[in-house]
Amino acid sequence: MIDFHTHILPNFDDGAESPAVSANMLMALKAAGFNDVVLSSHYYSNACPVEDFIKARSAAFDSLKPVIADKSVPRLHLGAEVYLTSLIFNNGDLMPLTVNESGVMLTELPYDAKYNTFTAENLERLIFNRSITPVLAHIERYPFLMDKGLLAELFDMGCRAQVNIEAFCGKRKRKLKKLAEKGFVFAIGTDAHGTEDLANIDFYIKAAEDAVGKEYLENAFAYTKEKLI
Ligand SMILES: [Fe+2]
Repeated sequence: MIDFHTHILPNFDDGAESPAVSANMLMALKAAGFNDVVLSSHYYSNACPVEDFIKARSAAFDSLKPVIADKSVPRLHLGAEVYLTSLIFNNGDLMPLTVNESGVMLTELPYDAKYNTFTAENLERLIFNRSITPVLAHIERYPFLMDKGLLAELFDMGCRAQVNIEAFCGKRKRKLKKLAEKGFVFAIGTDAHGTEDLANIDFYIKAAEDAVGKEYLENAFAYTKEKLI
């Protein structure tokens, strides 16, 4: 399994607060059956240029390496959870924000606004001007993305979708099951910010299997793998 959405890099965003916590999170994910983990720390384009983010991300990654060197942990892939505003286009190269520089970008949409022409325009610019595939983060949190009409349009445009694993046993589970059956769920993540977020991971994996079926999950992970590895 591939965890596509995590906040594990130490002392970097609102996730793990030390390399020891990062190591514990990675060991918990490995024990739960995740062989690959995307390190998707928050990137806010209003806070700093991409270049500064990448430098700080490398430093955080370097501080983690010695702590996990002798431990059994999943393969790690560098990425970011990119909050989408038009400011992002003030940067030149956006590829370093994509997972393993693959062109696949975990993209967080604003919560406070309904889907509007600004969001649509920013997604179009990512896809058509920057050759990026936006994977929309935790679609279950956005009522407008739970509408299969809009999701279908975004899919046609070139977007893909990520679901947080615990959502498969939340209040939107029926809706997610339908969207999954229509092939809209292409990546799954824990969005873990600390060890406490992984305390019930086995339960959530089982809930996801019950909701959409093991085969579906395997297909979703296969898609992610094909794009990343
Ligand atoms: Fe996140």
